[in-house]
Amino acid sequence: MARLKGKVAVITGGASGMGLASAELFVKEGAKVGIIDLKDEKSLAKAVKRLGTMAGKKGAACCYRADVGDEAAVRAAFAAVRKALGPIDILVNAAGIDTTSEVASMSTAMWDQMIRVNLRGTFLCTREALKDMKKKKWGRVINFASQLAHKGAPEMAHYVASKSAVIGFTRSLAYEAIRDGITVNAICPGPIDTPLLRQIPKHWLARKKKELPIGRFGRVEEVAPTVLMLASDPDGAYYVGATLNMNGGDVMV
Ligand SMILES: NC(=O)c1ccc[n+]([C@@H]2O[C@H](COP(=O)([O-])OP(=O)(O)OC[C@H]3O[C@@H](n4cnc5c(N)ncnc54)[C@H](O)[C@@H]3O)[C@@H](O)[C@H]2O)c1
Repeated sequence: MARLKGKVAVITGGASGMGLASAELFVKEGAKVGIIDLKDEKSLAKAVKRLGTMAGKKGAACCYRADVGDEAAVRAAFAAVRKALGPIDILVNAAGIDTTSEVASMSTAMWDQMIRVNLRGTFLCTREALKDMKKKKWGRVINFASQLAHKGAPEMAHYVASKSAVIGFTRSLAYEAIRDGITVNAICPGPIDTPLLRQIPKHWLARKKKELPIGRFGRVEEVAPTVLMLASDPDGAYYVGATLNMNGGDVMV
């Protein structure tokens, strides 16, 4: 299969978890992948090596260490991907953070950092990728939101606010972008076993597991195929401003 043959994709947060799983599927399907992530250089090099092995060739992937909330760093990282791989066809905004605190005791710094990474980062990266996509009159933007945006969660008002805003951003941009042949969609995973989930306090995770009809957390391999589907043509072509919910039944919409 080579559903993404000839395509250049940027995956933010692609050095770990669902971003990395998506990157692996993308290179297997023939795409070249540029990862933008804040992890240390050693972890980034490891991810590029892994993707090269998956693709069966070197040069299928590159990595840039950048904070998606930093405008200048984002601009530089996208310029570097363009130089290395070519103009961008597909953007997956997977970079994200999660912390917990009740609102009454939440620091302003914790609130600001959440919005900076999860929302501002999505905006900054999307704006960069749109430059290439508008010229090509084709593109795919896939934003990671969360099923918590549909139901809320105690101790996560800042996270849920950021992910609800990502859904609003997705829907509004979808109207604008489709005029240029660019689809914009969001996915809303339930709790998926990744480093991000593992650092959430145990009491929160235990409560969450009990709520899940499926009785377990999800796996990255259960999310990446949906990202691939949205990125592919014609499979993803008729999804415009959609939110797809792979969540073990946590929210049935
Ligand atoms: N795991 C879950 O249960 C879950 C559920 C719903 C939504 N999500 C969302 O899915 C996305 C992927 O999460 P994951 O679970 O795979 O997490 P993960 O921690 O495995 O991967 C996230 C990646 O984002 C990177 N990152 C963090 N801050 C960054 C920044 N400022 N700039 C650049 N890169 C940065 C990290 O280095 C990491 O490699 C996130 O947006 C997350 O909010 C996760």
